[in-house]
Amino acid sequence: MVTITYLGHACFTMEDGKHSIIVDPFLTGNPEAATQADKVKVDAILVSHGHGDHLGDAVAIAKRLKVPIIAPYELAMYCQRQGADVHPMHIGGSYQFPFGRVKLTQALHGSAVVGEAIEYTGHPCGFIIQMGEKTVYFAGDTGLFGDMALLGKLHPLDVAILPIGDNFTMGISDAVEATKMLNPAVVIPIHYGAFPIIKQDPHQFEKEVLAKTSARCVVLRPGEKLEM
Ligand code: NI
Ligand code: MN
Repeated sequence: MVTITYLGHACFTMEDGKHSIIVDPFLTGNPEAATQADKVKVDAILVSHGHGDHLGDAVAIAKRLKVPIIAPYELAMYCQRQGADVHPMHIGGSYQFPFGRVKLTQALHGSAVVGEAIEYTGHPCGFIIQMGEKTVYFAGDTGLFGDMALLGKLHPLDVAILPIGDNFTMGISDAVEATKMLNPAVVIPIHYGAFPIIKQDPHQFEKEVLAKTSARCVVLRPGEKLEM
């Protein structure tokens, strides 16, 4: 059995009883966070891009647990400079890790660590994660793009995890179009509740998915799980 636990905003864990990973571990400062960075126990950390609401606590967790950060090359080098173990990858590439297979997909967005200066960290990405016979697509922060149809065709998806918050990413109607193209068994909306500017009603998304696609929509509140 594979379990996805939603930890709020764009952060979730995925585990199969033997291994576990965390994706985009923004917990400190995340008003939706369902756990704390120092309680996380995982074998690897996947980070889609350098924005603070995704990179989050990745370096601190990586250092504490001595586990790698898997990220696009430029972002991985940034994390390595902060003292983390890393496994750099890039878009279109996949790699077999002990916990499963990860492929990086394109995302239409930016990627930078924004402090007093802006340090660009290459291209943002999404992930296709194969773990315990299940295939999950996490789109990352992205606008809609037509090649989602190709991703769905090449990788029959058990789950697609899509942003619906609008403003910085797809909103509800584009995420419904994405669901049509990806054709997953289950779609989970994320990235819609942590900040006022991205507030959306996930149940509106759920209604439209039901009416317009063949996917099942599962709305997870932070801390809730989907077992497959
Ligand atoms: Ni972002
Ligand atoms: Mn974001």
